[in-house]
Amino acid sequence: MPERLGILTGGGDCPGLNALIRAVVRYAVNGNGIECVGILHGWRGLLDCVTMPLDAEATSGLLPRGGTILRTSRTNPYHLDDGAQRVVENIKRLNLDGLIAIGGDDELVVARRLFDESQVKVVGIPKTIDNDVPGTEYAYGFDSAVNIAMEAIDRIHTTAESHDRVMIIEVMGRLTGWIAACAGMAGGADFILIPERPVTVHQVCDAILRRHDRGKDFSIVVVAEGALISEAEDKPPLRIVQDETPDEFGVVRFGGVGNRLAKEIGKHTGFQTRVTVLGHLQRGGAPSAFDRVLGTRFGVAAVDLFAQKKFGRMVALRNGEIVPVPLAILNEGRREVPDDFFRVAEHFFG
Ligand code: F6P
Repeated sequence: MPERLGILTGGGDCPGLNALIRAVVRYAVNGNGIECVGILHGWRGLLDCVTMPLDAEATSGLLPRGGTILRTSRTNPYHLDDGAQRVVENIKRLNLDGLIAIGGDDELVVARRLFDESQVKVVGIPKTIDNDVPGTEYAYGFDSAVNIAMEAIDRIHTTAESHDRVMIIEVMGRLTGWIAACAGMAGGADFILIPERPVTVHQVCDAILRRHDRGKDFSIVVVAEGALISEAEDKPPLRIVQDETPDEFGVVRFGGVGNRLAKEIGKHTGFQTRVTVLGHLQRGGAPSAFDRVLGTRFGVAAVDLFAQKKFGRMVALRNGEIVPVPLAILNEGRREVPDDFFRVAEHFFG
């Protein structure tokens, strides 16, 4: 009897999930004779036992296609009293010999707990446009999101220049500023605001005014949705929340900081200011070449771990190599933008 591998995608989608599913399935089926079962809607599929067959044919043509054919959700089995037990029972019912869980840090914490507390045989693959999973230099999907944001910044640059405007681009990233820092650096932003570095409105305005004093008539400001900003020196930094209702992982929804900042910049500088919120555009469409290659390497490495029965690990990119890392690494908490990395971007502010 061939071994049976369950595959799920959980959390927010990102460009390239389908390319990753393709890599896992093609290598598992063709390279290792493993049978694959698609679990639908992330961890929810294992609470409700909802699956689809996955073979080489089902994954044909997926490399450039956005989204995930397995669908996704931010379901947390530990949100329910009997959630973990239901997952374990359904893994047995489906005759699965193990799982590959593709997710962000929250979904991978579920994988870690299931492994630690219920001995579920699981291998993780880190994916999130936020790039905040500890233990890996790149989460899958991040590079694509940065490229989408960079292209948007390039386009906004030209219209900023035509109209002598301050243009604010609000990007995603939750509590870390990876997208803002990288897309901002790549797009030549004149100021970048990230959650890791609280700033005052005055610091932003001073940089813009300095730039205009140098003869520049427009400015590009990139702000991470989770940025912390004080409206005055004596006021504590604030984060703008769009929806305070926590999801099953206790996470609230950010968004709106761009508009708030625009109002303040307009008031303090007198320059015409406009806002573009990139939102879910950053998660859609075809993956970058980097992510396609990373996904193929992650997929193959994850199937190898499954075949070698090395569970309780996730694949990670470190110094250019794909390596297994214990899921316990997630206890370290989210991976933030380091100071020395951000200092490089700061040299170009104002
Ligand atoms: O975690 C990925 C992410 O896109 C964050 O950057 C963003 O804050 C959040 O998901 C948006 O979530 P939703 O898809 O529920 O609006």
